[in-house]
Amino acid sequence: AGVGVVFGGQSPEHEVSLASARGVIENAQLLGWDLLPVGVGRDGTWHLGPGALHVLWQQSDQRRIPGRDTFQAEPGPVVSYPALPPTDAFAGFPVVLPVTHGGWGEDGTLQQMLLAAGLHLIGCGPQASADCLDKARAKSVLAKAGIPVTRGTVVPRTAADAPDLLHRLVERVGPPPWFVKPQSGGSSVGISRVDSPDDVRTALQRALVHDEGVVVEQLVPHRELVVGIVGRSSLIVSPPGECRPVGDLYTYEEKYAVGNPLFTCPADLDSATTDEARALADAAYRALNCDVFARVDLFLDQLTGKLLVNEVNTIPGMTSTSVFPKVMRAAGLDYPNLLHALHAAALE
Ligand code: DAL
Ligand code: MG
Repeated sequence: AGVGVVFGGQSPEHEVSLASARGVIENAQLLGWDLLPVGVGRDGTWHLGPGALHVLWQQSDQRRIPGRDTFQAEPGPVVSYPALPPTDAFAGFPVVLPVTHGGWGEDGTLQQMLLAAGLHLIGCGPQASADCLDKARAKSVLAKAGIPVTRGTVVPRTAADAPDLLHRLVERVGPPPWFVKPQSGGSSVGISRVDSPDDVRTALQRALVHDEGVVVEQLVPHRELVVGIVGRSSLIVSPPGECRPVGDLYTYEEKYAVGNPLFTCPADLDSATTDEARALADAAYRALNCDVFARVDLFLDQLTGKLLVNEVNTIPGMTSTSVFPKVMRAAGLDYPNLLHALHAAALE
């Protein structure tokens, strides 16, 4: 039977999703999969058919597309619907892989809709999706499971102007430097590094463009590690990879225009730290009830030598420069075999 791939959606990461879809479509061709591209426009229209990626590419802000200079999508037939199409539009494609990053596509809403339409999901279910996309919720689930997390707090939009805000932040998070991020964002959209308390209000406003809440996190000197996981009961856990930002913050441009130039996998770590990073990622995946795949981002605190979980991404980027396919390759799964493994895990 065929496989549907859903991409796009109403999210600041819409264009990243198009590049992820391109990765999936090209590699699914190598596998000979019968693939149904399903693109959801920013206006909520669903386009089903071989030309769906081309339709969304033309509507998108092409400057924001990862790999924009070489991005290709063939025109082809599509059938369009103003909202989620009736189940029979998916006839012959009972299994669906969402590569929708951020917002509605990664917070469980889409997952709920697809399940309600009787489709089989390749990826995390609604609850794990909702828990992981909300950085504050994920942290509280992880902390309850005894998993070390970065120190942080939430500032809801309504509290962003409170006169004693700074005082409360210092009390809860410690003194700057801080990371200020949309509570449910991804791909570094709306993120700032704050070194001086005077800059916090600007940073909050920048994050509030994208979300109703903001997380403020303590920024300890750290190395940034990522571990990819695929599986349901038995897990394939990748070796840790390491992201090294060129500047003091890992940006959208760096992730997608430049394409993670300083990424290495396996990361240069002693074997005890490697084992611990993989074990911690495994524990985080299970604590959040992740399913089929996720990417766990870790910090190696350089002052204490301790590992912390930064966040868990239930729909990690699948673009050609994304780190998830890279770490899975180091685990023995090249991109086509990764797709094969995702499909097999979902049907396990
Ligand atoms: N949110 C982006 C796509 C990632 O986690 O890779
Ligand atoms: Mg993320």
